[in-house]
Amino acid sequence: MSGVVLVGAQWGDEGKGKIVDFFSERANVIVRFQGGNNAGHTIIVKDKKIILHLIPSGILWESKVCIIGNGVVFDPKVFLEEYRQLKKENLIPGGTSLFISAGAHLIMPYHRIIDIAREKMAGLTKIGTTGRGIGPAYEDKVARNGIRVGDLLDADRFKRRLKQVLDEKNRYISRVFEEKELNFNEIYEEYMSYAADLAPMVCDTTLLLSQYVKERKNILFEGAQGTLLDVDHGTYPYVTSSNTAAANASTGSGIGFNNIERVIGVSKAYATRVGNGPFPTEEHGSIGDYLRQKGNEFGATTGRPRRCGWIDLVALKKAVRINGLDSLVITKLDVLNELETIKVCVAYEFKGKEIDYMPLNAEDIELCKPIYREFSGWRKDLRGIRDSLDLPVEAKDYVKFIEDFLETKVIILSVGPERDENIVFGNIF
Ligand code: IMP
Repeated sequence: MSGVVLVGAQWGDEGKGKIVDFFSERANVIVRFQGGNNAGHTIIVKDKKIILHLIPSGILWESKVCIIGNGVVFDPKVFLEEYRQLKKENLIPGGTSLFISAGAHLIMPYHRIIDIAREKMAGLTKIGTTGRGIGPAYEDKVARNGIRVGDLLDADRFKRRLKQVLDEKNRYISRVFEEKELNFNEIYEEYMSYAADLAPMVCDTTLLLSQYVKERKNILFEGAQGTLLDVDHGTYPYVTSSNTAAANASTGSGIGFNNIERVIGVSKAYATRVGNGPFPTEEHGSIGDYLRQKGNEFGATTGRPRRCGWIDLVALKKAVRINGLDSLVITKLDVLNELETIKVCVAYEFKGKEIDYMPLNAEDIELCKPIYREFSGWRKDLRGIRDSLDLPVEAKDYVKFIEDFLETKVIILSVGPERDENIVFGNIF
């Protein structure tokens, strides 16, 4: 058995969907362990663009088991829309099944209302959330005020839980945010209408996983968002509400961490961020525009234009450390094709001193000015290249420098959005 965790090494949107899809061919089981439909994993198969928000990206392969683990916050409406669409387009191949943890917490209508209302009230200090109710759902989980997927399957239990919780939520929504109170019956009817369709997929997925471990299956854990959005280790408070770091693959799915053998990080050849918060290498001028246009850097979930800039090796070093990355996937190398000069951030200037680490506090990170090393661009199209020997020398130098700096080997270079547009140095299973 091989347990492999794949995580984003930046602020999300690193192109994990395509890489999970690539590794899924050899995996038996693919597991989502945190986040929710704030994620948007884009996969392009034969010119068709598929964006998955909640369903593990392994769903497109034959004879796989896909699991949505207990660490995910689960919006049943979004899930069923996504699932029905995949079914309608015949995109779920034979023998592939999908299970949802009964212990995953439900995203409820009041979570979305609170998320949006809170951001509106925050004005300039807002986080720039996706507005999907992710934070408020995790808050309720920790406050022991949540309702779980398993509760949906017992109408009486769901009714009792919703009654207990909704009363308090309505007071909060109406008094703090001056929003309209929600109707108990409407929510009850809506959520009950999802129960029958979900029921065959819901179970204690930890039992399934322990069986797969015994059978020595290849299990791939698919991270969402990225390390710098981790609620503990990211640029707090400008983070998401879950642990995006690799260790959460264990608690977010109920598998012992000693079953995890490898941790792979995914980084773009440059950097992007959606929402607010510090971003030392952000480029506001023509370079930022170039990366946004060439890289098609618009949010897969919200459509928001992404902030863009140069790759930040100081930040990536932190991702290597926090996750224990043993290899790196670099995506979108082809986006840099036309640039004459490419910059790489190797240190920060912080309060008059040079530092080689990212400060913990977001306000301190805002004060960091990037110190760059410059590389010549290759000015050739990399998209057709499949063998590293065919890479222009400038591209080889660029990648080699990143590997040496991070003391982490590159396992895949992605040179285009299509499934097969990769230079592969090794596999993981
Ligand atoms: P939330 O996860 O919706 O609460 O948003 C918190 C922060 O995480 C915001 O800055 C979002 O833009 C960011 N975020 C959440 N999910 C993703 C993602 O999948 N990719 C990139 N950024 C994300």
